[in-house]
Amino acid sequence: MDLVQVLKIERSREYWRVVLGGLGALGGNIIFALMHTTAGKHVLILGANSDVAKQAIKLYVEQGCSVIAASRSTDELHRFVREQVGAPEKVTVQYFDAVAFDTHQAFYDSLPVKPHIVVYAAGFQVTNEEALVNWKGSYQMMNVLYCGAVSILNIIATDASNNNLERIVGLSSLSGVRGRKSNFIYGSTKAAFTTYLAGLRQHLAARKVRVNAIVAGYIRSKLTAHLSLPESLLLEPIFIARVIVNPPKRFTIVPGFKWKIIYNILRLLPEGLVAKLP
Ligand SMILES: NC(=O)c1ccc[n+]([C@@H]2O[C@H](COP(=O)([O-])OP(=O)(O)OC[C@H]3O[C@@H](n4cnc5c(N)ncnc54)[C@H](OP(=O)(O)O)[C@@H]3O)[C@@H](O)[C@H]2O)c1
Repeated sequence: MDLVQVLKIERSREYWRVVLGGLGALGGNIIFALMHTTAGKHVLILGANSDVAKQAIKLYVEQGCSVIAASRSTDELHRFVREQVGAPEKVTVQYFDAVAFDTHQAFYDSLPVKPHIVVYAAGFQVTNEEALVNWKGSYQMMNVLYCGAVSILNIIATDASNNNLERIVGLSSLSGVRGRKSNFIYGSTKAAFTTYLAGLRQHLAARKVRVNAIVAGYIRSKLTAHLSLPESLLLEPIFIARVIVNPPKRFTIVPGFKWKIIYNILRLLPEGLVAKLP
């Protein structure tokens, strides 16, 4: 190989280095831009006093969004926003009770601005043993985790005048993937919620509104504080919040690689083996 040939190869290598380097930088900029396209958006968080929702409030505000934090515990939310949110003026706290179905239309009509992004995070849980013998507990789970979500999200999704609407995120659970003897009452409300979100996604596709179901495993929060769960599987609320705020393109999002594996095994497991699980 003579010198001219070597120089040609070197030049062509340099050319591809520059091109690939440029593409890398461009890709980085696109990812950065995509992650920051929420700036200026209005976010409505329902059940905003949830530990996961509170972390999402912080992140949305950091990204330049305005947040309507809707919850029953308005005093607690005011305190949280005052003490822990970087720009408290970006958050409006509004009273919302997921099970006061008759108030949902008036609640939606009273919003200062119609949202671009809606997150449903309200949660309630009693143990399966208790739910089996205490209808009140079962019924409250159904109402908070499913009926309340359907009631308010139907109102939001059918408001065709809201041209802002671009995303709805629901906090569902791996408990809804298969019926298991230890938690099938809570799990059945989550299965129903995931199915609702899947249909809603199809219903809203023509309006280009994205819908995501966050199918989460164990999260360290008020909801699980009384349970002894394996430490190595517990996810932090901030970890889930990051996924809510910057969701990947998929409909079903399972945060955490260990939970992705568990989710896939659980989905495929024959019923006989599921019956052997707790
Ligand atoms: N923790 C987990 O392991 C886990 C796993 C998978 C999925 N999830 C789901 O993730 C979501 C958030 O849960 P989390 O872990 O953040 O629990 P959390 O901190 O206990 O939050 C649940 C929130 O729901 C609110 N809520 C209950 N009833 C309500 C009602 N009638 N109206 C409005 N808000 C109501 C409560 O607020 P107030 O009582 O202050 O009003 C509470 O702050 C829930 O849907 C939960 O099922 C949790």
